[in-house]
Amino acid sequence: MAVYHILVSHFPIALWLTAYLFIALRTFSDAQIIVSLEKSIWPLILLGSLAGAIAYIIGLQIYPWSAITQSPLGRNHIMLATWTLSYWTVMGILGFKLRRHLFEGAQKWIAFTLGSIGALVVVITGTLGGSLTGTPSLVTKSLSYVGWNVYTTFYIPTWMLAVFVLGAIVLVVLGFAGRRYKN
Ligand code: HEM
Repeated sequence: MAVYHILVSHFPIALWLTAYLFIALRTFSDAQIIVSLEKSIWPLILLGSLAGAIAYIIGLQIYPWSAITQSPLGRNHIMLATWTLSYWTVMGILGFKLRRHLFEGAQKWIAFTLGSIGALVVVITGTLGGSLTGTPSLVTKSLSYVGWNVYTTFYIPTWMLAVFVLGAIVLVVLGFAGRRYKN
């Protein structure tokens, strides 16, 4: 199964990073050819999510759950894969819904920032996978410079959970307020 996971996982990586390349190009250029690439951003993202879901399911078949979750590196790879897949799926749905307005005015900077976060989480997921196969990249090493040793359990302070819940409530309230404003 590992060989199939390695084979399939490069499809979402390539598709999501191509989408990010197009987002970055569009943020900094209004050239006709770049504007026409814009239409392919959300299909690339959602195709990436489809391939990502297949890679995710195959990934879960490599080792028994009880074995892979014994390893902090294994848990970190699963955690980042879960973030990456859900993040890009939401990005694809939003990209589709807002497809005509993504790069209007200051909104392009939001698209660029969200895309950059997405690219970062894909890169980290991939490098953790590479570390699992015994081939850590410079990215794995760089993460240790910012204080995250990926071979140890990832902890966040408990108070961060309260911040997450609060953040989610604020976003839902803002969403409802925004809908009323539009009407
Ligand atoms: C979006 C989802 C995922 C992506 C993009 C991804 C990506 C990768 C990559 C790039 C590699 C290294 C390939 C290489 O060395 O060339 C890898 C290895 C690995 N991944 Fe994932 N992965 C994902 C989800 C998962 C999940 C959910 C699991 C569940 C446990 C998993 C388990 C593994 C394991 C065990 C390896 C090492 C395989 C070996 O030792 O040969 N992956 N992954």
